[in-house]
Amino acid sequence: MTTPKALVAGNWKMNGLKSAATEIMRLNDLVKEGGARCDILICPAFTLISTLCDINSEYVAIGAQDCHMNMNGAHTGDISAEMIKDLGCGHIIVGHSERRADHGEMNETVNAKASAAQSVGLKAIICVGETIEERKAGRALNVVTSQVKASIPSGAVVENTIIAYEPVWAIGSGLTPTATDVEEVHNAVRDVLLERFSDHGTQINILYGGSVKASNALELMSVNNVNGALVGGASLKADDFYGIISAYNEIG
Ligand code: 13P
Repeated sequence: MTTPKALVAGNWKMNGLKSAATEIMRLNDLVKEGGARCDILICPAFTLISTLCDINSEYVAIGAQDCHMNMNGAHTGDISAEMIKDLGCGHIIVGHSERRADHGEMNETVNAKASAAQSVGLKAIICVGETIEERKAGRALNVVTSQVKASIPSGAVVENTIIAYEPVWAIGSGLTPTATDVEEVHNAVRDVLLERFSDHGTQINILYGGSVKASNALELMSVNNVNGALVGGASLKADDFYGIISAYNEIG
């Protein structure tokens, strides 16, 4: 079975002003010089999407961190998938654990948001992951596979679906699961995808996220069924982020 081309995605979260555009230009130059054997995506705050899309980077695609489940209407302060597409994005992250925690988003909401993204031709990066309590209770696999099953929309196809496994306790903490633990979860997610999409399920990227940095990227990205990374803190500076991207130059 062939594996999908890896995707290394940066989630800038609530960081970055207009001046951060220079990081995209620098990243573009680093990739131009050093190469990249993976696709590259940056998902900035809504306020920066237009500015970063206008750079028209040859190597760095721009996406969003969230969308509303409806296309338009009376939803003050919200942004629709169609609006995001209109700016030139190809991806939307949905169901990040910070949205699940800060905004009470449940699998049903995440499913509806992913469906909205996919319905306008965008790829949904669906985030899942267990808390430390769930892991300690031996429930990590059960929690993650349930989230994957419930969050993928009924109309999803392999071309518009990406899963990001982000253990909540590894986000921004400097802690990471062992390679064995990552493999166990990614294999279980793959099994769900094979069940759902039959053999085509091999073509869906399963990203790992949670304290990925240049120093651990090679180990984590070499794990079976890890097809890229979703990176927070270490994606804010182009040089740090390129350190993760370049792990793929060694993996091949
Ligand atoms: P960190 O890389 O800062 O741990 O964040 C991971 C994350 O939440 C990406 O979506």
